[in-house]
Amino acid sequence: MARRSHVQTTINGETVEFLCEPRQSLLEVLRDELHLTGAKEGCNNGNCGACSVILDGRLVNSCLVLGVETEGKSVETIEGLAEPDKLHPIQDAFLEHAALQCGICTPGFIMSAKALLEQNPNPTEHEVRYWLAGNLCRCTGYDKIVRAVLDAAASM
Ligand code: FES
Ligand code: FES
Repeated sequence: MARRSHVQTTINGETVEFLCEPRQSLLEVLRDELHLTGAKEGCNNGNCGACSVILDGRLVNSCLVLGVETEGKSVETIEGLAEPDKLHPIQDAFLEHAALQCGICTPGFIMSAKALLEQNPNPTEHEVRYWLAGNLCRCTGYDKIVRAVLDAAASM
């Protein structure tokens, strides 16, 4: 059995310790070791954005980050977005605009949108489309997603 490394990190504001093999991606650690299955595996090679999370304030594809690289860092996943009795405004906007169908891409889009609105609270439609170009959706046709992000920006 491969040697496992001890890692301490912060996930959604809570200190978390885990053991993982040095080859395991952050996506594998989140899903298989920590049972946080919100981030999805689409391509596993950095092309689809379904695995998007925020690492130390930066949007990343968690399939391209090693779990051991998160030592001492802070990870935000879709599980940390809603409050106990309230969805995040981006989640509300996705529901309102029916900006999802199968939902596989949705956590990635929402985390990407969150990262965008943290940097640019009032984006243009062009900026939203450009920013979300790294997230692929096979169902919605993108328009509803873009409208949802613009609406979320307005409401936030
Ligand atoms: S699963 Fe990570 S970018 Fe597709
Ligand atoms: S809702 Fe199905 S891939 Fe986007």
